Formats: sequence, structure tokens, C-alpha cells
Amino acid sequence: MKVDILLGLQWGDEGKGKIVDVITPGYDVIARFQGGPNAGHTLEFEGRKHVLHTIPSGIFHNDKLNIVGNGVVIDPIIFKRELLALQERGVDIYKQLLISRRAHLILPSHRLLDAASEQEKGSNKIGSTLKGIGPTYMDKTGRNGLRVGDVVSSRFQEKYDTLVKKHKRILSHHEFAYNLDETEPEWMESIAFLRSLTIIDSEHYVNNALSEGKHILAEGAQGSLLDIDFGSYPFVTSSNTIAAGACTGLGIAPNRIGEVFGIFKAYCTRVGSGPFPTELNDATGELIRAQGHEFGATTGRPRRCGWLDLPALKYAIMINGVTRLIMTKADVLSAFQEVLVCTHYMHQGELIDYLPYDIELDEVTPHYISMPGWQQDLTGMRSTEQLPVELINYIDYLEAELKVPITVVSVGPDRNQTIRRTSVLA
Ligand code: GDP
Ligand code: IMO
Ligand code: MG
Repeated sequence: MKVDILLGLQWGDEGKGKIVDVITPGYDVIARFQGGPNAGHTLEFEGRKHVLHTIPSGIFHNDKLNIVGNGVVIDPIIFKRELLALQERGVDIYKQLLISRRAHLILPSHRLLDAASEQEKGSNKIGSTLKGIGPTYMDKTGRNGLRVGDVVSSRFQEKYDTLVKKHKRILSHHEFAYNLDETEPEWMESIAFLRSLTIIDSEHYVNNALSEGKHILAEGAQGSLLDIDFGSYPFVTSSNTIAAGACTGLGIAPNRIGEVFGIFKAYCTRVGSGPFPTELNDATGELIRAQGHEFGATTGRPRRCGWLDLPALKYAIMINGVTRLIMTKADVLSAFQEVLVCTHYMHQGELIDYLPYDIELDEVTPHYISMPGWQQDLTGMRSTEQLPVELINYIDYLEAELKVPITVVSVGPDRNQTIRRTSVLA
């Protein structure tokens, strides 16, 4: 068997949580491979909304296993709160959830370092979610990190103290006031809770499951344009959000990867700083934000909105080896008479169809084509036959440009507002 991957092709928040939940019935195991509580994955069903941060989005299907892989970074406090909330909703967190021994831990001092770093960057700040993601991955690659497996070690406290001492030394070089004593007790309590959960060598588990013919879905967090190597550096997150991250973040060999589902919104959003060539700083952008409820699931920040960016999407498809596309939020564009799509950028006097290395916004002018809008409420539609011809034309145009079949079109946040379609390319 092979592992399928579902990941975001833009700057995150493409609707990964919703779609993972929808396709979970086809899998035995759902596994997160990178990121941490910077993610906010929203699921809606039976009139209720759920936001997951570290837990895979298959968790509401009680016959499935969910794995937090080695590539994920865990904040024990957020993790515990999230799990207790799930327990209240009837999830068996001891049976349905497995955690990799090799996943790294976010310490309270990592969060402080994140905040101190952003403060120092001033107007150049990344716009981090301030969950301590960057400093935790820095300690991982710097070979100083604490891992889930360490929580059962008799030397855990000593390892913790050593790392915190290092962090305090760094913090002393910043003009940054903090009080670690406020959060440490809750963090230690949460570590005790973590010890009670099912901690495993997930790389063995995943590979054994594959040998037994089990179907595994790897769930990405963030989006390809936030990838540490291929995103709009330095305005990125600190992990590999692309398909390759599933190999390192779960211990799966590249030849065990099957389908790569790339998910994108019918337009673009970005939260935090960094270049966004098609951003609309006008009434159109505001209308997209209002119609799409574009506010961060983790931080509540308003998301920046703009038209779909094909050069960026093509790049993400290439880097990930996307085999199938999923388009979400088509319903949000129903408000518009015409829908624009960026096909090229004018860059230093030349028309290009790829992302330049350094996206200096004053040097990149998007070139658009305009398509007639569909101006119909899609949210009650359940089959391709019901879709307006203008939307079908939009989908056909995108498929022809992207050369990958669009096999799912999402028309609302609920599980049921999902249309599967047969593509001529499939
Ligand atoms: P994720 O991080 O990729 O899982 O996405 P988020 O949950 O952060 O953001 C996506 C938002 O759009 C959530 O509020 C979803 O409930 C919502 N959503 C997902 N798909 C659709 C859709 O097709 N239409 C609309 N209107 N909302 C959607
Ligand atoms: P999901 O999984 C959207 C953004 C932050 C910031 C940058 C770095 O819900 O799609 P970090 O906290 O990682 O140091 O922030 O990345 N970011 C996200 N944007 N969706 C996410 O996750 C994000 N996770 C991080 O806004 O610009
Ligand atoms: Mg999100």
C-alpha cells in the first residue's frame, strides 16, 4: 500500500481540515507530519464547528486511528486542552490517538523566544502565530530539543532545566520582559497528562500498517508557499510543508507515496506578513474577506485576500507532484460579476509565469484574465450537474492551465457541501 498526502497549495487555510474529515472514511489511519499549534483546521458537521490545532482531522471518525508524527511540534498545554475538549465530545483519546516518541516539545520559553524575536524584527516581523514553532524547530535542528520520548526519562527535569537555561541566556540579550513562572506549572501538569497517552515509534507503526494493507492519509499543515525551503522566505513557517515533509515527518520512503491531493481556494488568502502579488487592498478584497469569513482559525487575525494566482499555484503543484486538485470556497466568489485570475507577472519589464526568487512587490505586477462570475448560491448544490456553467468554465480553464484534474469542489464549510467530479483529465 501507499500513503496518500493531502496538503495546502497556497498560504494555508485552504480547507484541509474539512476535506480530510470528508475523505477519512476511505482510510484507516490519518497522520499529521509537520507543523504544530500554529495550524487551525476547521471541521463542520451536524451544525457544529470544531477547530483542531495539533490533532489530525480524522479524529471524529471513531473507527480510525490518528497519529501525531515525528515531524510535528507539540505544545503540551494546547495539546491537553484540545484533547480534553475532544473527550467531552465523545472521542476516545486513548484508543484513537497515537503520538510519536520523536515529536519535539514546545516549551513555554520557546514561545517567549518567538515573541522576543518578532518584537526585535519590528516592521519586518514574520507575523508568526507566536506558538513557539520557529524556536522549537531551531532547537530540533540545533540538536538541543526535548522530545515526547524524553518525558518518561528519569533525566527529564534535568534536560528541561538545561534547555531553559539556554533560552534564558538568549532572552537576556533581548529587551523583553517575561515571567516564566506563570506558565511552567501548567506545562509540567500537561507533561504528566502526555505521559498517560499512547506514545509509540510511529515510523514502525506506519510502515507495518502499510505492509498489512492499511490505507494511510498524511495531513499537511500550513501551505506550500509557507514552506521553509520553497515558500516566500523569510516570511514562512519553520518546517517542510510540502509532500517531501511527509517522508521525513512520518518515516515513509518516497516510493511509498501514492496520491498527492493539492488543495486550493478559488481565490487566495494569506495571514501574517510577506509578499502576496494578487492581494486586493480595496473593497473587492474586503468583500472576499466578508463573504469567506476570512479570519484566522488560530489567531482570529483578518486574512489578506486576493485573486487566484496561477504562477504560484503551478509552482506549488510542481514542488509537490500533485496528482489531484481540490478546490474550496467556490461559493464565496458568487458575490462577483466577474472573477479574475492572475496568469503572469510583469517583472523587471518582462512577462513571466513563475515566482521570482525575491518577490519585491513594487517589481511584480500581476496580469489577469477576467471570467464571468456565476452569481448563484452554490451552498445547496450537491452534484456537478447543478453547478452553473460559469463555474464549470472556471474549473475547465484552471484544469487546462494546471494540467491536473480537479476532482473535488467544495461549496461550503459543512461536510455535506462537497461535490466530487469526474475530470476529463482523470
Ligand atoms: P485549514 O487550515 O486548511 O484546515 O483551513 P481553515 O479551517 O483554517 O480555514 C478554512 C475555513 O473555510 C474554515 O472556516 C472552513 O470551515 C471554511 N471552509 C472550508 N471549505 C469551505 C468552502 O468550500 N466554502 C466556504 N464558504 N467555507 C469553507
Ligand atoms: P493551517 O494549517 C495560515 C503563518 C503565520 C505566519 C507564518 C509563520 O491552519 O493552514 P509560525 O507561527 O509558523 O511561526 O508563523 O506562517 N502560518 C499560517 N497561516 N495557516 C496556517 O496553518 C499557518 N501556520 C502558520 O501567519 O505568517
Ligand atoms: Mg487554518
